[in-house]
Amino acid sequence: MKLTPTVPGARLLGLGSAQPDKIVTNDDLAATMDTNDQWIRERVGIQERRVADEKTLLVDMAVEAGTRALKDAGLEPSDVDTVILATCTMPTPIPNGAAQVADRIGIRAPAAFDLNAACAGFCYGVGTAADLVRAGSSKNVLVIGAEKLSDWVDWTDRSTAIIFADGAGAAVVGPAADEASVGIGPVAWGSAGDLAPVIHIKDDNAKLFQEGQAVFRWATTKIAPVALRAIELAGLTPADIDVLVPHQANLRIIEAVAKKLRKEGAREDLRVADDIVHSGNTSSASIPLALDHMRADGRVRSGDTVLLVGFGAGLSYAGQVVIFP
Ligand code: UT7
Repeated sequence: MKLTPTVPGARLLGLGSAQPDKIVTNDDLAATMDTNDQWIRERVGIQERRVADEKTLLVDMAVEAGTRALKDAGLEPSDVDTVILATCTMPTPIPNGAAQVADRIGIRAPAAFDLNAACAGFCYGVGTAADLVRAGSSKNVLVIGAEKLSDWVDWTDRSTAIIFADGAGAAVVGPAADEASVGIGPVAWGSAGDLAPVIHIKDDNAKLFQEGQAVFRWATTKIAPVALRAIELAGLTPADIDVLVPHQANLRIIEAVAKKLRKEGAREDLRVADDIVHSGNTSSASIPLALDHMRADGRVRSGDTVLLVGFGAGLSYAGQVVIFP
């Protein structure tokens, strides 16, 4: 009988992402609502975002990102036995998206489930996947964060329409052969259900509502400690971190988290994700999208020590340190 873990830990094997072609600029939005480019750039940091057309489904973007991540990992669909789709914007709760995504990629009969931790979803997914692999329940897990927020945004509401966008990002999590190659640290995670009302879907029109200032205050005070805890759980110090990839909700929140980490010893040359500028806030997709884009422009490289931290509706949060594959 073998009831003990079979591998020392997990690591990232590959990454991929997908975004719709359509770019919506701040000026495009200002043409239909009372807002302007300067306000959006200064208060949120977004210059443009990607929005899917009506025909493009959330699972379409997830399939594209997942397929790219598998290719990047050098794996075949048959190598994957578990698919986790982190999302909070499926058009309906049944059926789940993960099984459909797996089927379309050609992964036969995997464990497949959706995970709703909103903007923290990707980090929840990577944490869950790493533990499944370490425990021996899964061999290779495809973790996808995919959102079609445009379906749930009231396009006449300037407090949300200027922020949210569509996209998908994915990572393959697989076994580490030995202690030295473990590449995913323990997840630091939690929730604040007492604050659930500050981001919710409204009863009257089924559209997203956000009490922006309340979320902003929470994120700028509570998220840096989560990031520091993830570093501690990984047995590292802030100075060991090469790249910080927080959820892309607001450039001012990202900068506040980076500032607090630097105060705690993170390096001045810490590379900080700012993908929100061109991608907007894509909830569970924002972290893998940012990672993939930073790899493309050379700001994250193989072997880098990367700190991920997601936060959002729930309220939920999660972070972990990973070694970039
Ligand atoms: O991804 C999930 C997690 N979400 C977050 O982390 C979001 C956190 N919150 C935020 O990022 C920010 O609170 C927002 C970007 C949502 C809003 O920025 P803010 O600086 O908190 O703006 P505010 O709501 O306090 O509004 C400031 C002013 C108000 O005008 P007055 O009352 O000062 O005259 C608003 O009416 O800006 C006005 N305003 C706008 N003006 C132009 C609000 N939205 C807009 C807009 N364009 N789109």
